[in-house]
Amino acid sequence: MARPAIAIALPGDEQPHVVDVLREADFEPVVVGCPGDLEALLASRHDVAVAILDGESDFDESLEYYELLHEPGRDIPALMIVSPRTLDRLVGAAGRSGAHDEYFTRPYSPEALRWRVEAMLIRQMTVDDGSGAVIQSGSLSADDWSRRGAFLSVFNPKGGVGKTTIAVNLAASLVAMGRKVLLVDADTVTGHIASSLGLENVRTLVDSLAEANDGGPGAVPETLEELVAAHSSGLKVLVLSSSPLMTGHLDPAAVADAIDRARRSFDVIVVDLHPDYDVLNRAIFGRTDRILVPVTPDVPALRAAVQLRDVAEELGFRDKLALVINRANSGVSVADMERTVGMSSFAMIRSAGLQLVKAANEGRTVIDLFPAEKVSGDFRALAERVVGMPRAKEAARASIRGLFGRKEPVRTG
Ligand SMILES: Nc1ncnc2c1ncn2[C@@H]1O[C@H](COP(=O)(O)OP(=O)(O)OP(=O)(O)O)[C@@H](O)[C@H]1O
Ligand SMILES: [Mg+2]
Repeated sequence: MARPAIAIALPGDEQPHVVDVLREADFEPVVVGCPGDLEALLASRHDVAVAILDGESDFDESLEYYELLHEPGRDIPALMIVSPRTLDRLVGAAGRSGAHDEYFTRPYSPEALRWRVEAMLIRQMTVDDGSGAVIQSGSLSADDWSRRGAFLSVFNPKGGVGKTTIAVNLAASLVAMGRKVLLVDADTVTGHIASSLGLENVRTLVDSLAEANDGGPGAVPETLEELVAAHSSGLKVLVLSSSPLMTGHLDPAAVADAIDRARRSFDVIVVDLHPDYDVLNRAIFGRTDRILVPVTPDVPALRAAVQLRDVAEELGFRDKLALVINRANSGVSVADMERTVGMSSFAMIRSAGLQLVKAANEGRTVIDLFPAEKVSGDFRALAERVVGMPRAKEAARASIRGLFGRKEPVRTG
């Protein structure tokens, strides 16, 4: 089974040993001499799992490497090779880095470096379901790294704050922008996406698993595409279950994995979740790129968002949260909400009054039915932010400054 490629940008005297050891371990080491090489490599193949970079080299060049690794739609971890002195400085400066980036100090043995790479790969393949790390079934094949589309979830542990409304209308806006979008109803308790879109007799993932296995729990299929229902707008919809009593058929980690794999076939996946911290949701939190957190201007919704922020901190996905203020034009001011939750708002959706109800009654979205209304403009603005979103250049710059323990880039010459 093919193992992933590892990009290597190290000084000439270290490179050959590292290449040899990684090749012996069946990786495909690819030496890159400059950021242009890395750019070409990443454009031509999707199975680059880790990049080994020299943390002592030219800052501007490292920044370019780093930005390429963390471009929108991509999040390839960097293993930075540094001196013990640099590492001390970084620890002292509490340097901020990308979620999966790691350091390794000189002098090092290439064999030890190889095992660090193995550990990074294993960490990327784990889902935190609260019961400790669980290594996903399946091997680390080249296929596992060919992630393309963005995987977004919409979640707030409080009910009725607009998760489903935002998931559906965001997905519809992205379709209207020409994106191939999969909308997943992962609210296995009170999900109603299919009916609100006027889709009838939708075959759910649970239906398919039960059929395939004569009523018993079965394995999640390799691709979910045959299960998706097509809405007249062009939106593709997948419903996990239409009955809360049937969810025993779903293996949460396998479901989260299958949704993750659908990145290969869609530009964007939008997942609507039930308001709880159950195993399925936590498996999805582990896989998703971003979690849009709708909050309405009222104390219970704000409290729930604060709780989510704290839980996310504890489970290690705090940096995935993005606040979406719903019904933004009523009640508490946006600045107060941002202060309370401790996050700045990513987008705002105004109150739509009866337009949402009318659209749902017709099995359509407000984007479809009322494209000229201001609320549709809000959803389009959210969609535009989402598309340009996964990792803004500035965030990448801030990260690498953190990696190097610097506040501002130091330019030479
Ligand atoms: N911006 C808005 N303007 C007007 N009504 C809205 C808006 N957002 C949501 N609503 C209405 O609020 C109600 C709850 O919204 P929605 O079902 O999207 O919330 P939810 O967070 O998914 O709830 P649950 O947790 O129960 O799944 C719905 O009737 C919806 O039409
Ligand atoms: Mg909902």
